[in-house]
Amino acid sequence: MLIKTAEFVCSNTQVDKLPAPDKPEYAFIGRSNVGKSSLINAMTGRKALAKTSQKPGKTQLINHFVINDQWYLVDLPGYGFAQTSKKNRAEWEKFIRAYLTRRETLQCVFVLIDSRHEPQKIDLDFVYWLGENGLPFMLVFTKADKHSAVKADQHIAKFRRALKQWFEEIPPHFLTSSETKLGCDELLTAIAEINEN
Ligand code: GTP
Ligand code: MG
Repeated sequence: MLIKTAEFVCSNTQVDKLPAPDKPEYAFIGRSNVGKSSLINAMTGRKALAKTSQKPGKTQLINHFVINDQWYLVDLPGYGFAQTSKKNRAEWEKFIRAYLTRRETLQCVFVLIDSRHEPQKIDLDFVYWLGENGLPFMLVFTKADKHSAVKADQHIAKFRRALKQWFEEIPPHFLTSSETKLGCDELLTAIAEINEN
């Protein structure tokens, strides 16, 4: 898919203040610092569309971007950010879960997972919750440029194996890098295919 336009629409914390649900929508979610905002920039070819930071916890709101005037790409705050209070974490849970379960135009949740690590309970639990709620998802393994392809493949295989206890069928996955743009075209193609159906 060719990106002709990519524009910031709005940021907010309330599900009833989101843009009108008039376009197919795709959300990026995953642990703090996993690379959600960077991947949105890499996919759209815009350096600073979504704000990124070396410090976890940068994205705090639900951020809508409109792509080619046709579909929404949504950058969400990360989960598992240790330096936040229990109250903040509970609030995150509430509004993100409300967004994910109530947004009727949400086509697919892209769950970002750091390809450098062994499967983490927090990611597996989140994917399980998506399954329980019948939310369609795909797995996106990030930061491939930071280590060997062999290691990444091992971690991906382990993650998929861990999901087998809950899911009969596990959706496709992507190996990505915001630095080299690995996987960006494939992600855009997956989105284009869903948009066409
Ligand atoms: P929160 O908004 O805090 O939840 O983080 P995020 O998931 O949006 O992460 P962000 O895109 O801000 O990236 C976090 C850090 O990882 C930044 O320093 C990025 O430059 C770096 N980073 C993200 N993706 C990649 C990647 O593919 N390769 C490399 N080498 N670094 C990356
Ligand atoms: Mg972010």
